[in-house]
Amino acid sequence: FAAPVDATKCGNADTLPTCTNIKDANCCPPPNPNIIDFTFPTNQPLRIRPAAQLADKKYVEKYNKAMQIMRSLPKEHPHSFAQQAAIHCAYCDSSYEMVGFPNVKMDVHFSWLFFPFHRWYLYFYEKILGKLIGDPTFAIPFWNWDSPDGMPIPAMFANPSSPLYDKLRDDNHQPPLKIDLNYSKSNPSPVGNELIEANYKVMYTQMVSSSKTPELFFGGAYRGGEPQVKAAGAIENQPHTALHIWTGDPNQKYGEDMGRFFSAGRDPLFYSHHANVDRMWNIWKTLPGKNRKDIEDPDWLDSAFLFYDENEKLVRVKIRDCVDTKKMGYVYQDVPVPWLGARS
Ligand code: C2O
Repeated sequence: FAAPVDATKCGNADTLPTCTNIKDANCCPPPNPNIIDFTFPTNQPLRIRPAAQLADKKYVEKYNKAMQIMRSLPKEHPHSFAQQAAIHCAYCDSSYEMVGFPNVKMDVHFSWLFFPFHRWYLYFYEKILGKLIGDPTFAIPFWNWDSPDGMPIPAMFANPSSPLYDKLRDDNHQPPLKIDLNYSKSNPSPVGNELIEANYKVMYTQMVSSSKTPELFFGGAYRGGEPQVKAAGAIENQPHTALHIWTGDPNQKYGEDMGRFFSAGRDPLFYSHHANVDRMWNIWKTLPGKNRKDIEDPDWLDSAFLFYDENEKLVRVKIRDCVDTKKMGYVYQDVPVPWLGARS
C-alpha cells in the first residue's frame, strides 16, 4: 500500500518516541472538505533558489518583505507563518492518520517519505511567499552548509531586526562560527581547516560511500498501514539531524526551535536548511553509479500528502510528481561542490 494521509482525521499531536509529547499542541491545518488533486501550473517561470550567503541586498529585501506579510496574517489563515510552521508538527507528531488505517499515525521521518515530504512542503511555502509579494519568480535561498563560505548561519537569518530572525537559537553558534556537520553535544568541534576537512568527509561519506542504492540514500520502505519504521537514509541521519540540534537553543526544554520536530518549522532558517537537504537529492542523482536514481516502487510513487497551495486550496500531492524539480518549476543556483574530492 502507498501511504496517503487522511485529511478528515487530524487530531492533537500525541506521543511517539521520536517526537515531543505536547499535549496542547494542535497542529492541524484549517479544516476544508474540498480536496483537489495537484496539477502542474502552466507557464510558470523558472525559480532559481540562490545560495543564501551569495544572495544580494535586493533579494534579502524581497524575502524580508514576503516573510513580514506571512507573519502578519491571522493565525488561522493557511498562508500564515504559524500555519506553515504547524505543518511540520502535524506530519511528525503523528496528528494524521493514514487513509484506510484509522489507527495508524503518520510520521514522515526515518523512512523513504523524508525527502519527498519536505520537497513538497518547501514547494508550497515558496509558492505562497511568491504569491504574497506578487512575484512568481521568488525562490527560497538554500543554506549552503556543505561549502566553507556557507557553513555559518547565513547573515540574512542572523539579523535580529529581520523577520527571518528567530531568537530561539544557540547563542554560541552565531556567525561567523561555522557549523560542525558531525556535531554532538558531548564532543568538542574541530576548528579552522580541520573543521572544513571534517565537514567534507561527512558529506563525501553520506552522499557517496554510504548512499550507493536508493534505499541507503532515501531511507527504508514505509507503506500504508505499517507502523513507523526507523530506517532513515544517510543524509537524514547525518548531517541533517546534527544541523537541527546545532541550531536550536540548548537552554530551551526541547532545544526549540530547530532542535525538535514540533517547533523546527517556527524558525525561518528551517526552510533553507531543508532546501540544501533537497538540493542533495538533485546532486545525488548526478553522481556516478547506475543505482543513483529515484525509487521505482509504486507504493512510494503513489504516497500522498496534503498542503494548502498558493490559492488557498487544499491539494493532494503525490511523490511521483516531485521527483523532477524542473518540472516543479525550480532549480538550484549552480555553486561548487567542494566535498566531491574529499574521499578519505
Ligand atoms: Cu522534518 Cu529536518 O525534519
